[in-house]
Amino acid sequence: MSVSHSITSDTVSEKLLISHSGPLHGTVTVSGAKNSVLPIMAASLLTNERSIIGNVPSVTDVHSMGEILRRLGAEVTLTGDRLVVNPNAYQGTVASYDLVSRMRASICVLGPLLARHGKAQVSMPGGCVIGPRPIDLHLKGMQALGVRITIEHGYVVAVAGKLKGARVHLGGTFGSSVLATGNVMMAATLAEGTTFIEQAACEPEVIDLANFLIAMGARIEGHGSPMIRVEGVERLHGVEYRIIPDRIEAGTLMIATAAVGGDVMIEGVRADHLGAVIDKLSEAGVHIEKLNGSLRVRASGQTRAVDVTTLPFPGFPTDLQAQMMALMAVSKGVSILTEKVYPERFMHISELNRMGASIMREGASAIVKGVEQLSGAPVTAPDLRASAALVLAGLAADNQTELSGLEHLERGYQRLEQQLVQVGAKIRRLGQDEQ
Ligand code: UD1
Repeated sequence: MSVSHSITSDTVSEKLLISHSGPLHGTVTVSGAKNSVLPIMAASLLTNERSIIGNVPSVTDVHSMGEILRRLGAEVTLTGDRLVVNPNAYQGTVASYDLVSRMRASICVLGPLLARHGKAQVSMPGGCVIGPRPIDLHLKGMQALGVRITIEHGYVVAVAGKLKGARVHLGGTFGSSVLATGNVMMAATLAEGTTFIEQAACEPEVIDLANFLIAMGARIEGHGSPMIRVEGVERLHGVEYRIIPDRIEAGTLMIATAAVGGDVMIEGVRADHLGAVIDKLSEAGVHIEKLNGSLRVRASGQTRAVDVTTLPFPGFPTDLQAQMMALMAVSKGVSILTEKVYPERFMHISELNRMGASIMREGASAIVKGVEQLSGAPVTAPDLRASAALVLAGLAADNQTELSGLEHLERGYQRLEQQLVQVGAKIRRLGQDEQ
């Protein structure tokens, strides 16, 4: 099956009917990490040999990246969770607005295109609902490697001869940048000489990308620390590689269990990627047992309020802030959730309040007064992670919650509703003709 964009008008008009659920019981297995796969798909353009990537989730963002690679001339096929990218002699260097505007992660083709072809035109991604998301650090990194950049008609137009290794500082106002670190690391693999990336992002997905590049023949050291060293090589080759588990999906399932109680075994996880989440949930009164490759999560009764600040890894991930807010909305006491990565990422507050939550925004923080019970309501998902938060709120609410805007959920969760149903949640998908 060849990868194509899969948001259909059906998906857009479908709804989830979520009924009060819990306690949850059983075992679920976590998918591969969406945020690892996307840059790794871009990295597979660094060679003209075929790469085979395993444990790939079939989510819309992966399909969108597949479409970008195909427009550049690569063959991309996804069968089950196995993705084959065959760049052959791909020639394209343009990532157009219609594709980049669907998904900001498209910007990570910039580094590989410059490394292979010495030129690239990538549409400026623009803002998005979770707030302004500039790409200045990506551009600064490329310029340091000798790339000349102009912005023309909404496109980043980048031209270079042979890229040259350099010392690049990638710290921004909100800390390090995950995809800018990946972009510069990819470009530097084929540059002349050595590149030092200072204040590099330390996220597990950056480590996964570095390991993929190393398997391709790249020389990289220090990945997972704020100082990465890349020694340029002449060429890279195709590889077979397995993606790490999705820590955000795992965290979402852990928070779901905390919100409605139960005893759930979450399999195929890396506990070392979830330290801050385990710490905060334990503080809230959830029992978490680390087993070999799995986590047993047990919760009963109302959890306690805890204060949470999102930070780059190993801090609490911004991609779990909305889900944690849904949990705090039904926890005992008052909690403060502070967003240090995307200070505008609070679109879910108004929808949670429509379900009876008591949340007030104060700058980059949300003050959450826990209530005993939320009340089911029709709600609309404003973005990817907020949609998961509304699913969790629906499980903890009385009566029924009707969630629209499922195209957001499907950008990043392959089968959240099936996983939750598997452990006893009451969720039903309502097709267009049933409404
Ligand atoms: C990645 C993740 C996203 C996650 C985010 C932070 C993917 C596909 N997406 O996004 O799910 O929420 O990391 O963990 O992996 N910034 C700048 N200039 C730049 C780039 C970023 O100021 O050039 C700012 C951003 O606006 C934000 C902060 O830096 O405030 C962190 O963003 P960044 O780490 O770059 O996020 P992404 O890599 O785009």
